[in-house]
Amino acid sequence: MTTPRLDKAGTYKLGHRTVKRLGYGAMQLAGPGVFGPPKDPAAARAVLREAIAAGVNHIDTSDFYGPHVTNQTIRAALHPYPDDLVIVTKISARRGADASWIPAMSPAELTQALHDNLRNLGIDVIEVVNFRSMHGIHGPAEGSIEPQLTVLADLQRQGLIRHIGLSNVTPAQIAEGRRICEIVCVQNQYNLAHRDDDALIDALARDGIPYVPFFPLGGFTPLQSSTLSKVAEGAGATPMQVALAWLLRRAPNILLIPGTSSVAHLRENLDVAELELSEDAMRELNGIAAHSEKTPAH
Ligand SMILES: NC(=O)c1ccc[n+]([C@@H]2O[C@H](COP(=O)([O-])OP(=O)(O)OC[C@H]3O[C@@H](n4cnc5c(N)ncnc54)[C@H](OP(=O)(O)O)[C@@H]3O)[C@@H](O)[C@H]2O)c1
Repeated sequence: MTTPRLDKAGTYKLGHRTVKRLGYGAMQLAGPGVFGPPKDPAAARAVLREAIAAGVNHIDTSDFYGPHVTNQTIRAALHPYPDDLVIVTKISARRGADASWIPAMSPAELTQALHDNLRNLGIDVIEVVNFRSMHGIHGPAEGSIEPQLTVLADLQRQGLIRHIGLSNVTPAQIAEGRRICEIVCVQNQYNLAHRDDDALIDALARDGIPYVPFFPLGGFTPLQSSTLSKVAEGAGATPMQVALAWLLRRAPNILLIPGTSSVAHLRENLDVAELELSEDAMRELNGIAAHSEKTPAH
């Protein structure tokens, strides 16, 4: 029997489920600026259906994408959900009428956000909820997360959340979080050119905790590098594919959630399951200067 294409990228434990390492991030399915409806709602649903048809079983979302729009699109496209699909959401922000991102970390706001996610996704319990720290809006900033995690742990006891993860956090906040409840994944900004979390990824790998890089392709500022283009040419792949393949090779606990609003880009991204990078290519890519330009991140 041949191995299904996506399985070639491997799997990893996420909570008590096992997911394929190539997943999908749904943020690009809302309108421009992650606000309002997409230009073509049918096309947005088609991307989700194509992801599932290709074997994706890990989708990242939030009710503050749109707001509400992305979750409603996921529900319209995929409900009732396949048994093996793990939907991961994040809470702690709300959107202003001007599309701004506003911290919403009070107990009432976190509880409301959880219920908004459940209602708009059409489910009774969510598999993983990431507490997305808004101590820093554009990147991790220190500050206790105990009050917020205590709320999430309570919602977990009520049976509304199966597992808790963290996003946009520092190692100290992860350590604090792990004293309060089990943390099943960490989602921070990381890619070929933004490698602040190198040591953190390796530490989480030792503990068997998935690390889920957001902006794997550079997010709002797509990755561009002559080295990346050269390696891609040599590998017969696109620069974006090489950027994803590098992440898959970087550490076994990395789960990918590249975002796209295009079926063609989705297929291109999932084809990475069959892209092998040579040791030479890895060495060249590792040499791309690490810099941590602060880009808006949500
Ligand atoms: N926790 C957080 O704070 C946080 C923050 C940001 C994002 N996220 C999550 O992480 C996921 C991934 O991040 P992201 O979507 O912002 O950024 P990303 O995956 O780094 O990049 C998405 C951008 O790359 C383009 N793209 C995708 N595939 C491509 C391809 N094969 N060739 C050329 N361009 C391609 C997309 O445009 P097209 O639509 O035209 O393909 C889009 O502009 C999000 O969907 C979201 O679920 C979390």
